[in-house]
Amino acid sequence: MSGVLVTGGGSGIGEATCVRLARGGVRVAVVDRDAEAARRVADSVGGLALVADVADREQAESSIEAAVAEFGGLHGLVACAGVGNLKPLEDYTDDEVDLIWRVNVTGTFHYLRGAVGHLRAAYEATGRPSAAVTVGSVSGVRPTLGEGPYAAAKAAVVALSASAALEWAPSVRVNCVSPGFVRTPLNEVLAGDEATRAGLEDRTPMARLGTPDDVAALVEFLLGPQSSYLTGQNLVLDGGSTLSSAQMDPVLGPLLELFRR
Ligand SMILES: NC(=O)c1ccc[n+]([C@@H]2O[C@H](COP(=O)([O-])OP(=O)(O)OC[C@H]3O[C@@H](n4cnc5c(N)ncnc54)[C@H](O)[C@@H]3O)[C@@H](O)[C@H]2O)c1
Repeated sequence: MSGVLVTGGGSGIGEATCVRLARGGVRVAVVDRDAEAARRVADSVGGLALVADVADREQAESSIEAAVAEFGGLHGLVACAGVGNLKPLEDYTDDEVDLIWRVNVTGTFHYLRGAVGHLRAAYEATGRPSAAVTVGSVSGVRPTLGEGPYAAAKAAVVALSASAALEWAPSVRVNCVSPGFVRTPLNEVLAGDEATRAGLEDRTPMARLGTPDDVAALVEFLLGPQSSYLTGQNLVLDGGSTLSSAQMDPVLGPLLELFRR
């Protein structure tokens, strides 16, 4: 027997991932720095609640060992915990940049490094590749205003994941999911405002915001046997919102309408 460990499992995308995996019969360890949130989600999915700050090496490693002790091994990892901030680049303090880096990059590193031995052991026991999924952001692919350190950290998560994929194939596959705007407690301050939400939807080709379950569905696919040949990739999941060209589309769009008439 084995299971999957999800960091940041107490809310938003991590929570939706725990729910989806559990529905598919997977045993889930819900890791979060917020004990109450971890407990609430673990209770709802019949999983294991573990409290850890992913940025702290000892806490991260203890949570991995606790999950392995409970499940008898790990065949999957989802490194989802992350934090961001918004302000002019020159106004960020060292502490703010340090926090963003330590949670998003060092935290992801702690779990990749700590889990790989167990993921390899699961491969050796079953002959099927194990899988790790990390969580980036469209900000790390096409930077956004006011999110410089977060964008840099998420770009680092993409690079770290690709390096891990290269080193750990064929026993462990590693892919990154980079979501666009997904409505979660992280950004409710924006999505909760009707006018802001309508504007975001208007500028999204798929005409809606992403949901935590949209991301969870992709994570489930990346952990499962249907993606067994996929590794080292960064999958942007944004309803097409980063496709458009701010420079050309306002010019070409009206011309295209003329051709359509
Ligand atoms: N929501 C979006 O639009 C969006 C877009 C792109 C990327 N992301 C990324 O998706 C991931 C999940 O975001 P979300 O929107 O679900 O956020 P969220 O705030 O709803 O959930 C994040 C969870 O991570 C936990 N967490 C934060 N720091 C932690 C730490 N140091 N140790 C352990 N747990 C910690 C929080 O307690 C919370 O339960 C993050 O990595 C985020 O950067 C989100």
